[in-house]
Amino acid sequence: MEVVILPGADDVADQAAQIVADTIATRAKPVIGLATGSSPLGTYQRLIERHRTGTLRFDSVTAVILDEYIGLPAGHPESYREVIRREFVDHLDLPIARLHSPDVAASDLAEACRAYDDTVTGLGVDVQLLGIGSDGHIGFNEPGSSLRSRTRIKTLTDRTRADNARFFSSIDEVPRHVVTQGLGTICDAGHLLLIASGASKAAPVAAAVEGPLTAMCPGSVLQLHPHVTVLVDEDAAADLRLTAYYRETLRHKPPWQPY
Ligand code: F6R
Repeated sequence: MEVVILPGADDVADQAAQIVADTIATRAKPVIGLATGSSPLGTYQRLIERHRTGTLRFDSVTAVILDEYIGLPAGHPESYREVIRREFVDHLDLPIARLHSPDVAASDLAEACRAYDDTVTGLGVDVQLLGIGSDGHIGFNEPGSSLRSRTRIKTLTDRTRADNARFFSSIDEVPRHVVTQGLGTICDAGHLLLIASGASKAAPVAAAVEGPLTAMCPGSVLQLHPHVTVLVDEDAAADLRLTAYYRETLRHKPPWQPY
């Protein structure tokens, strides 16, 4: 796991966009994994800007979404497919048919979860963007999630519903259930890119990066993956113990070694 401590949230977004852009530029048919929430928005803006200025094309890109709420009416502005469309894909030359998300309207949801898992693994995600929840979740794999879980239905914790209430007019509107890629599904991606900024992420980042491997902190599953980049700002890095080592590693990073 490579931990990169950057001055602020803008630097995190710059670096994350660079890594995603490099992935796209070096693959014939790139597959990128997208997260929602606040953390990746700056990254998406920078990628859109690169597209707008003609330095990055998305016409050969396929995108897969990590998770989706169950129970919102089709086209609800806070459904994750809508958010990704509005904040990212609508501004690119990425064909909408190549934006994949769980079919939460399916009559057989369990089967839809299995089908989505097959789609994600069949495509083979090159780089997966991840945020982290205040309780250590990645995707919507809440504490207690099997570290080998596959795409399935999960119940959100009260804490996650409270965290996400800011996107709705009241907490009562936040769905209780979601479909999320499992931790095992996420770990099938070639490169995991965790981004976090702000003091509220300090504890979950430290638990995921340096804490014990435990289902109580689903983000700790990153420790099992061979290629993880953690981009954090100073505030989100505040609870890490090995900061001097991470900074030293970065200072001596050989120029030929990409993230
Ligand atoms: C979103 C997702 C979640 C968020 C996490 C952090 O698709 O999977 O794991 O990344 O809840 O959310 P923000 O970035 O809003 O703090």
